[in-house]
Amino acid sequence: MEAPLVVVNFKTYTSALASTAEKLGMQMADVPTNARMVAVTSAFDLSSVSSIAGLEVWSQHLDPVGQGSFTGWLEPETAIARGASGTIINHAEHKVSLDHVRELMAMLPEGFPICACAADVEEARALAKLGPTFIAVEPPELIGGDISVTTADPSIVSDTVSAVKEVNPNVRVLCGAGVKNGQDVATAISLGAEGVLLASGVTKANDPAAVLADLVSQL
Ligand code: G3P
Repeated sequence: MEAPLVVVNFKTYTSALASTAEKLGMQMADVPTNARMVAVTSAFDLSSVSSIAGLEVWSQHLDPVGQGSFTGWLEPETAIARGASGTIINHAEHKVSLDHVRELMAMLPEGFPICACAADVEEARALAKLGPTFIAVEPPELIGGDISVTTADPSIVSDTVSAVKEVNPNVRVLCGAGVKNGQDVATAISLGAEGVLLASGVTKANDPAAVLADLVSQL
């Protein structure tokens, strides 16, 4: 069994941008754990946060474009050169088409982790057919809230695991929305997920280091 993932999406929280992104990245790198800790930073912070030893850093989004006339798009090769060693795609706050995901996957290097987000089981099933590394199921209405998906809607996690594995057993499932503590992570694992994707539980915490330690405490 591979190490469970704790993927922290920095979004554009004030507490997780520029110098605060570096501070949070260092706190993540300092957590004593066998879990795979991943910081998902703004494109502006890929370089600085990826220079922190022992921390895996993903992009929050990438576009299937090459280098050239693509003003404002997030071009993958440069993101990789600037330290992205994986990416999220189709986050609830940045939806894209299935074609976007397919075209992006075709451009990424072999083995480059891509985590496609899904709002529900049906979207997860459709994305699984493309064969991303991970699918993260996150009910949009629970994102940023106080109740973890693992408490509010545990069946969406287990049903997504079943649906995804039926389509492609190699795709690994994460879950997110409202995840805040070690019990939520443990429940996610017991429901068949291989880790969690979270944001506000860490980025809005008074003591992020303590939250990070708690998140991995039952693994
Ligand atoms: O990408 C993670 C996210 O959408 C969940 O956010 O704040 O509910 O942990 P949050």
